[in-house]
Amino acid sequence: MTVGIDRIRFYTSHYVVHLADVAEARGLPAARLTTAIGQEAMSVTPPGEDTVTLAANAGELALDGIDRERVGMLVVGTESGVDQSKASAAWVHGLLRLSSRCRLYEVKQACYGGTAGLQAGLDYLARHPDRLALVIAADVARYGLGSAGEATQGAGAVALLLSARPTLLSIDPDSGLYTEDVMDFWRPNYRDEALVDGKASVRVYLRSLSEAFAHYVEQTGRSFADFAAFCYHLPFTRMGETAHKHLVKSLGVNLDADAAAAQVEPSLLYNRITGNSYAASLYIGLCSLLENGTADLTGQRLGLFSYGSGCMAEFFSGVVQPGYREHLHGAEHQAMLDGRRRLSVADYEAFYSFHAPTDGSDYDYPLHDTGRFRLGALREHRRVYTRLDA
Ligand code: HMG
Repeated sequence: MTVGIDRIRFYTSHYVVHLADVAEARGLPAARLTTAIGQEAMSVTPPGEDTVTLAANAGELALDGIDRERVGMLVVGTESGVDQSKASAAWVHGLLRLSSRCRLYEVKQACYGGTAGLQAGLDYLARHPDRLALVIAADVARYGLGSAGEATQGAGAVALLLSARPTLLSIDPDSGLYTEDVMDFWRPNYRDEALVDGKASVRVYLRSLSEAFAHYVEQTGRSFADFAAFCYHLPFTRMGETAHKHLVKSLGVNLDADAAAAQVEPSLLYNRITGNSYAASLYIGLCSLLENGTADLTGQRLGLFSYGSGCMAEFFSGVVQPGYREHLHGAEHQAMLDGRRRLSVADYEAFYSFHAPTDGSDYDYPLHDTGRFRLGALREHRRVYTRLDA
């Protein structure tokens, strides 16, 4: 049975800070925060925008024109959830007005959460081929101001509408797995910012890639030559380039550097200007590849590498479906990116430092542009979200 991705829609916050500006404010050469990591800018969330609103905005786009009664499963993959008990998916379900006959939950394993949701959604469709599954990966990435990770923040969400008759990408059943108990990146419950052993995290990422790819080959009998293009988890785009070079070199593949780079470059364009969006990053990369690649990928196999610190890694693959270009939304995604408001470093720091009360007092959030959905208020420890066209 064929199951896979029918629609892919991506949403990011409507505010952006340029890394050259951040570098100047930190007294660093611009290249230190741009060329060094392959980034130009990062999306910044204003007060009133969080994982729930990001996810709902992406989900609303993916459901345009769809009979919502057909959605039998909703999963939100995130590591920046807003409550220790209630799933982000429950708020998203309400905001998207989905059927009450719907299985929903939130899943966390660092940046791997979206892939865990994707695989669960595909399994669900194998048993319920007449239904649809909506899997949303959404995150706000935060590191300390002035830390080595600061330039690798960002925010975004991707909604994947899955079906048994996918118009974009059928996902192959077998994948390669690798897991290891490591402390490369983590966020204790009492902190808003992640902690990271940056250089160690890069080493574990690369080791996990080699291991997951080797397992994929064992499981499927396929080899590097079976892939037309690759998408990697992108904490910053240089990581994707480094990962691909590492794979080519470690496998001893005979491919010149330009040809190898061309297998990855189209997947990097959106992430370069949105930054890390943790669970969503790989899928923003996939969206970028499908929408910006000039080569016709019809019938071609794509390799996808998902990595979540801690760690869980999966190398999986899919085949691009005939007519896929008719089902993409590149112009709309580009318009959203181009329309973001550029923040000064002072304004970015003000958004970053914003904290709503945590003592249960009522609070009304200041009004900022948060797309179609908004966290408007806190009432007796409850988050009050609104749909702006309601
Ligand atoms: P850094 O300080 O930029 O590290 O931090 P660096 O000193 O190793 O420099 C990186 C590269 O920039 C080097 O080149 C330098 O030579 C070059 P390379 O050896 O890689 O070819 N460089 C320059 N180039 C041009 N002009 C200059 C210049 N200066 C240096 N002036 C680090 C990098 C990744 C450590 C940091 O950004 C960090 O800690 N980031 C957060 C953690 C992270 O993103 N880790 C990635 C792997 S783990 C992961 O992806 C999971 C994650 O998404 C979380 C999750 O799963 O939930 C993070």
